[in-house]
Amino acid sequence: MKRVFSGVQPTGTIHLGNYLGAMKRFVDLQDDYESIFCIVDLHALTVPRDPEELRNKTRELALFYLAIGLDPEKTTIFTQSSVSAHSELAWLLQCVAHVGELNRMTQYKEKGQGKDTVTAGLYTYPVLMAADILLYQTEVVPVGEDQKQHLELTRDIAQRFNNRYGEAFTIPEPLINEIGARIMALDEPTKKMSKSAESPNNYIGLLEEPKIINKKIMRAVTDSENEVRFDPENKPGISNLLTIYSLMSETPVSELEQKYQGLGYGAFKKDLAEVVVDRISEIQDRYRRWEKDGGVEDVLRQGAEKVSVIAEETMERVKDLMGLYRV
Ligand code: AMP
Ligand code: TRP
Repeated sequence: MKRVFSGVQPTGTIHLGNYLGAMKRFVDLQDDYESIFCIVDLHALTVPRDPEELRNKTRELALFYLAIGLDPEKTTIFTQSSVSAHSELAWLLQCVAHVGELNRMTQYKEKGQGKDTVTAGLYTYPVLMAADILLYQTEVVPVGEDQKQHLELTRDIAQRFNNRYGEAFTIPEPLINEIGARIMALDEPTKKMSKSAESPNNYIGLLEEPKIINKKIMRAVTDSENEVRFDPENKPGISNLLTIYSLMSETPVSELEQKYQGLGYGAFKKDLAEVVVDRISEIQDRYRRWEKDGGVEDVLRQGAEKVSVIAEETMERVKDLMGLYRV
């Protein structure tokens, strides 16, 4: 079985963009791949966080992983900080990555924009991400569009290492959805839906009440044409809603266009809200069940134990190849 790895940061509100762009895919993959999904808490530290909040968000994300349908019998779930090899390999790879490469990363620039100071961690963040992936000899990495550049860097670092020191790493392939790789903000459909958005009207959170979800969808920004047609360039709002509808109901966009021909945005949005609420309610039910029954800590503990074995094998080989003296 091929191995798949991905990570999500335990910060902000987990929203429909995270779910449709990446996490829903995790669930589809778990039957056909050896799957490892990580809660990347070390990445969350690249901007200052309240410690108690980080702890809570980490547990919350573990519950989300289970709530969306990841099955701990098939899938390994763990926190990044519980396997110290992530930090260790990140250092070794920082000595392989180039400053010029990191300077080209757009996410670092975006996140640092308008800030007086930026941590060194935010700058080297993509190298820690490369370490996450390479540690497990990952073959496939499901992510949203915004991570494409980081995946390219990961591949470059792995190739450079293998050429310079000898074969240590599998070269990973990104897996990016054809549709839904970039879910846009409801209130501003030319920008991506984001955890760090200022207005809560930007996103739909996975724990939001049906009433609120409904309201946000009915108020989502669209054009004035009142024609349900997929045309991201000229009709970004309605195209984004069509994408969400299509993914949530597993219906092709063309079929939806036909269904809503001549019916206008009101009818379309009303049905969309119903579909989204239905699906999110399932996730919420499972979330509450796991929260009530407990067991999430055991899943994380066992997950960390399991992946540590793979991580150690990679570390041994990497240290040997780099010439670190082992006695
Ligand atoms: P993050 O919350 O930044 O850790 O992202 C977790 C995953 O969700 C990554 O694979 C992102 O690429 C993906 N993601 C985040 N925002 C969006 C979005 N608006 N549309 C699609 N995918 C997204
Ligand atoms: N950087 C990713 C994000 O912000 C999260 C991440 C960290 C990740 N390590 C990873 C994703 C490894 C895939 C694989 O979304």
